[in-house]
Amino acid sequence: MRKLTTMMTAAAALMAASSSIQAQEVEVLHWWTSGGEAAALNVLKEDLESQGIGWQDMPVAGGGGTQAMTVLRARVTSGNPPTAVQMLGFDILDWANEGALADLNILAGMEGWDDVVPEALQKFAKHDGKWVSAPVNVHSTNWVWANKAVLDELGIAVPTTWDEFVAALDKVKAAGKTPIAHGGQAWQDATVFDAIALSTGGPDFYKKAFIDLDPDTLGSDTMKEAFDRMAVIRDNVDDNFSGRDWNLATAMVINGDAAFQMMGDWAKGEFLNAGKTPDEDFLCFRFPGTQDQVTFNADQFAMFAQGPEVGKEQAALATAILSPGFQTAFNVVKGSVPARTDVSDEAFDACGKKGMADLKAAASSGNLYGSMAHGHANPASVKNAIYDVVTAHFNGEYDSATAVDELVTAVEINK
Ligand code: BGC
Repeated sequence: MRKLTTMMTAAAALMAASSSIQAQEVEVLHWWTSGGEAAALNVLKEDLESQGIGWQDMPVAGGGGTQAMTVLRARVTSGNPPTAVQMLGFDILDWANEGALADLNILAGMEGWDDVVPEALQKFAKHDGKWVSAPVNVHSTNWVWANKAVLDELGIAVPTTWDEFVAALDKVKAAGKTPIAHGGQAWQDATVFDAIALSTGGPDFYKKAFIDLDPDTLGSDTMKEAFDRMAVIRDNVDDNFSGRDWNLATAMVINGDAAFQMMGDWAKGEFLNAGKTPDEDFLCFRFPGTQDQVTFNADQFAMFAQGPEVGKEQAALATAILSPGFQTAFNVVKGSVPARTDVSDEAFDACGKKGMADLKAAASSGNLYGSMAHGHANPASVKNAIYDVVTAHFNGEYDSATAVDELVTAVEINK
């Protein structure tokens, strides 16, 4: 009898210990696998570890998160969702619609998220008036990254119009270098298209095409012009662009093998990780013709519901993410800017300061739009349909006129 009691006590102790281990650990699914991204992720890991919360890493390689979202669907379908998941825009709302996400409202109320998170982000962080995810940052996609030494050597000034940009590309090509570092993956093609479309047609055109999905705008001559400009970009990438990861394209600019990369500001994380300094080694500027505009995407962590209440470790993760100190520490490394409006830009480098100022100005002038390429303009079904057309055109399967027709049809079918 005594032996049985001892065994039972030991079993109870073990169960208590294991459930407290579980309660003290978060499993985080994310796609931050490049050098710069991993450095930023470490800031979050260390923050939680300092609070005694363990980190079970679930990285899924693949920029833009397409693969991560496929893995997530499989995990949820098999009844085993991760605790927390990096997510973008409409994906958050899709999962919230399925009732899969934990309700963070009480926490958000206690911490005053409503007062400090910008409206543009709340639109994706709340569902039916309830907070369902914790915003980490704000990225934007209409940036160009340039190797300063290459530009100086060739006497190229920062281009401010499409024509100046084309002239700069011609100069780089004539000097025997690769003008544009690019990775031929659908999400990267679409990231470039975000900026090209915005520059070609202006903010109203971007909004009507990608946010309102207006068929006339999608099928317009301006859209054909945007595809023609994509063909110019295609003529300025190297022969090995197909399938290349985005961070390897950034490395080409870092090493001076290419002059420019058109990419979101996560690219800055790679420059910093390589020990480079803005304005000395590299330049960041808005894609020519989009100087006053911002196409944004925000990484958020959505917590998958594990019961009627949000888990203690999920709450701790959300609190850590929204804390002003973390918002600075993480975003200076990641290349993004804070998801709170009350964080000073003091700790940020020149590109970060510009990013913060641009975001504020674009929000107040009505020139801030969700990025089509990064899930902030439309649900994944429409986004992926646009990806397919943009990529087929980039790879020469469609001429510009055909791409326009295909775009109209693809959006119509999937919206
Ligand atoms: C995410 C960034 C990430 C980038 C490349 C974007 O969709 O918002 O955080 O660094 O993809 O992986």
